Amino acid sequence: MAGNRTFTMIKPDAVGENNIGAITKMIEEGGFRIVSMKMTKLSEERAGQFYAVHKERPFYKDLVAYMSGGNIVAMILEKDNAVEDFRKLIGATNPADAEEGTIRKIFATSIEANAVHGSDSDENAQIEGSFFFADIEKF
Ligand code: PPS
Repeated sequence: MAGNRTFTMIKPDAVGENNIGAITKMIEEGGFRIVSMKMTKLSEERAGQFYAVHKERPFYKDLVAYMSGGNIVAMILEKDNAVEDFRKLIGATNPADAEEGTIRKIFATSIEANAVHGSDSDENAQIEGSFFFADIEKF
């Protein structure tokens, strides 16, 4: 059975462009309840840990530098079928391939500065949510 929580970050490009409110509005209007939310900044070390699964990929260093270069907003979200439905709402990783009306199509400028992260599985949603939030912050 599909889980009912996912994890997202609004990335430094979207925070820097003052799009936190607009993106959060789309998330809420998409039927997601915000369970937990915080603005923070990842150190290079923490960004490296978060993206460790991509360590061998050619863009890893750039991704880590980029994600530690500005503030991000981390959120745990709740909805039936949360992981899949959220990935539909945000659109393809590369905004050039994203469908009209998706968050990345509207706000992303490149495959790196792609506005938002969305977990790719229930298991990773749980791990990623716990990377940012203590149990007492997930209610
Ligand atoms: S892929 O190839 O579509 O499976 O890539 P994906 O697994 O979706 O991407 C993983 C994260 O890496 C980011 N990414 C990049 N960053 C910088 N440069 C390049 N070329 C690049 N390609 C992918 C992508 O935005 C994903 O970040 P998250 O935070 O998971 O969305």
